[in-house]
Amino acid sequence: MYGMGFDHSFGLWFMARWLKPDLMIESGAFKGHSTWVLRQAMPETWIISLSPRHPENVDWGSVLMKRGISDLSQVLVFFDDHQNELKRLKHALNAGFQHLIFEDNYDTGSGDHYSLGHICGQYYIRGGGHSCFIESDEARIRMKRKRFWEIAVDRDELCGNGEEWWGAQGYMRDAFNHSNKAISYEEHFQNSRFVDSVLDVYWELPPVAGPSLTHQTRCSPARASDPIIEDGRFGLFQRLG
Ligand SMILES: C[S@@+](CC[C@H](N)C(=O)[O-])C[C@H]1O[C@@H](n2cnc3c(N)ncnc32)[C@H](O)[C@@H]1O
Repeated sequence: MYGMGFDHSFGLWFMARWLKPDLMIESGAFKGHSTWVLRQAMPETWIISLSPRHPENVDWGSVLMKRGISDLSQVLVFFDDHQNELKRLKHALNAGFQHLIFEDNYDTGSGDHYSLGHICGQYYIRGGGHSCFIESDEARIRMKRKRFWEIAVDRDELCGNGEEWWGAQGYMRDAFNHSNKAISYEEHFQNSRFVDSVLDVYWELPPVAGPSLTHQTRCSPARASDPIIEDGRFGLFQRLG
């Protein structure tokens, strides 16, 4: 298990400073790195840190009342617990939370839980729908990318036996992939319509800088937005598509 690296630590710090919440809730603390980042961003703000030992059904109304929080737009919730993000989004929505940060936004075909990145993998979203034909242009480009970037997802990783490309080979994974459920494309599509219907803003943090500067190689340059500070290697991935 890993904690957060440089890019996401900076992103979490930046968003906490930007939103200036009255309360920060964190699910998934591990050894406390993200707790420390939140504390650096907002030295005087309450942090509630949840681990697997806490019950899933927290009575948020009474927790917030105890802290004197009545405006839910002043609460920031940070998830790094590797749970199905659709499930977590519904939990947060039920509690009325509005500002959510998800740490792991896995790309289609990868990751140990169903992510917002998976949910955005739709034909109507640019770069979203996929082809599982072995001799397709996409399969060829994916094979090329794989030679340059270890975590790039090639056609064999992307597609299940029945050519299911959505989620992770047609599965909605949960809890570090200790549980998973096969979903149909229709269900996956409905999930994106649901998420679309409840989000005001969806924002993916760009890498702070190119990988030769930060030594961060856990996001695929082909799928992430441009680094804030480029290192010249990004062009290669843009050329590959
Ligand atoms: C990747 S680690 C978190 C890393 C941490 N945020 C950091 O920056 O170092 C995932 C954590 O999620 C916790 N976790 C697993 N299931 C959980 C659950 N249902 N609720 C809350 N935390 C959970 C694990 O115990 C683990 O500590």
